Amino acid sequence: MSKNELISIKNLKSPKGAFLLGHLPQFNTYNKHQVLERWVEESGELFKINFVGKEFVVSANPDFNNKLLRSRPETFKRFSKIDEILKEMGVDGVFNAEGDTWKRHRKPIAEVLSVKNVKFFYPIIVDKTNTLLQKFKIYSEEKTIVNVQKEFMSFTIDITTEIAFGHKLDTINEVSNSFQNDLEVVFPMINERVTAPIPIWRYFKRKKDKTLDVALKAIEELVYTFIDRTKEKLDKNPELKAYPSNFLEALLVENETANFTNKEIYGNVFTILLAGEDTTSNSLSWTLFYLAQHPEAVAKVRVEAEAVYKDEDLPSTYETVEHLKYANAVVQEAMRLKPTTPQLYFEANKDTVIENVAIPKGTSIILQNKVAQTQEAYFSNPNAFEPDRWMVSRCPMHKKHTPNVMRAFGGGSRYCPGMHLAKTEMTVLISTLCKHFDFELNVAPEDVKECFEFTMFPDPLKITFKPVK
Ligand code: HEM
Repeated sequence: MSKNELISIKNLKSPKGAFLLGHLPQFNTYNKHQVLERWVEESGELFKINFVGKEFVVSANPDFNNKLLRSRPETFKRFSKIDEILKEMGVDGVFNAEGDTWKRHRKPIAEVLSVKNVKFFYPIIVDKTNTLLQKFKIYSEEKTIVNVQKEFMSFTIDITTEIAFGHKLDTINEVSNSFQNDLEVVFPMINERVTAPIPIWRYFKRKKDKTLDVALKAIEELVYTFIDRTKEKLDKNPELKAYPSNFLEALLVENETANFTNKEIYGNVFTILLAGEDTTSNSLSWTLFYLAQHPEAVAKVRVEAEAVYKDEDLPSTYETVEHLKYANAVVQEAMRLKPTTPQLYFEANKDTVIENVAIPKGTSIILQNKVAQTQEAYFSNPNAFEPDRWMVSRCPMHKKHTPNVMRAFGGGSRYCPGMHLAKTEMTVLISTLCKHFDFELNVAPEDVKECFEFTMFPDPLKITFKPVK
């Protein structure tokens, strides 16, 4: 085939599937992202699969993926089933909005999560980091084996809830919090419903569908209470509009020009709650998974922490964080090896061509972003945990280092607007924990499995914390 000849989807290879059901039986597991990776190995960077006749193109080619992400919102949108499922759950916000509606949502959300505002929210991150540090000190004295996945989830829920609507939760110190439990129900159900061939829950409610309904109702009631309270507060004190203190206040101020409906305001608060938690806490868990096996990296983070914020327990000012370069490199490296969003789903708005592939309007495409992040072609010693590769000054010229194939935060105009907030939370917590503790993995590394529930997390992950002498 000549270099410029168009490739038709019908000529793409396909891994072996089942009669009628196609690739669905293999895909319907707790680790569907690994099934996809296996297919990439089997069929190459570009292939097609089908779920009961519904066809998907899969790309693990970084150039193809980058071009697709950048041709939004005009040429591609998110897979339409995501919008259908989220709307059915009452979520009508920036993640599932498209076209001009998306532009209207994105502007205020990007503003609220901007670097300037992360600096403003920084005391919340410090407060929650300190709360978790005190809890881990007790764990370390009692030699408790810690389920870090759960602890990090509480950490990100407490931060995101306070940033979202100024509500001080303390799920870090509560044994069980109903709001946390309600939120935890949502992601697995989105994951299940987006790939379900038949929407069974619309005809018959299973136990888990009823649990989801109860959780959604409780979240809705709580968020609407906050919307009403915040509106009242801003009406009574219009001077506060100049300095909104949380996401909801900022959104209501922007709303004087953006004209969101109440449902859209609710949808965006819910989106922030969902988008900001599992992604960040799972990335933290994977980072600790690696640190517990790399004491030399823990020691380097500690040396840096001692040099940068000296006798302080944690980096108390926002300005300090940019000096925590090694802690940041550790987080980047964990995200390269274990991206919590290894695949993203899209649909073509019109006929188009990407990297010589002719894509008709309506084509569904899965971008597999993880494979490239661990390929020899882009990173030397690709499967090794080597945070030094992210330290520009220590990156030897002869080594391969291609950070622009990283898609952990997506790409193009719809890249994750919470990226700076997430990186700040993670760098601060990892630096603080390494300053105070050594870690021991209480499970064999090979027993820690990658599980996928819309985001990818390690399970089981048990770690003990040993105080630094
Ligand atoms: C390590 C943590 C995080 C990861 C790995 C992550 C990853 C992602 C990815 C892959 C996307 C899709 C991007 C695309 O389509 O190109 C996304 C979108 C989004 N994320 Fe994040 N995210 C993280 C943290 C956060 C946080 C802390 C927030 C907010 C508090 C947030 C809010 C959002 C929103 C609102 C979108 C939708 C953007 C749009 O459609 O325009 N994320 N995130």
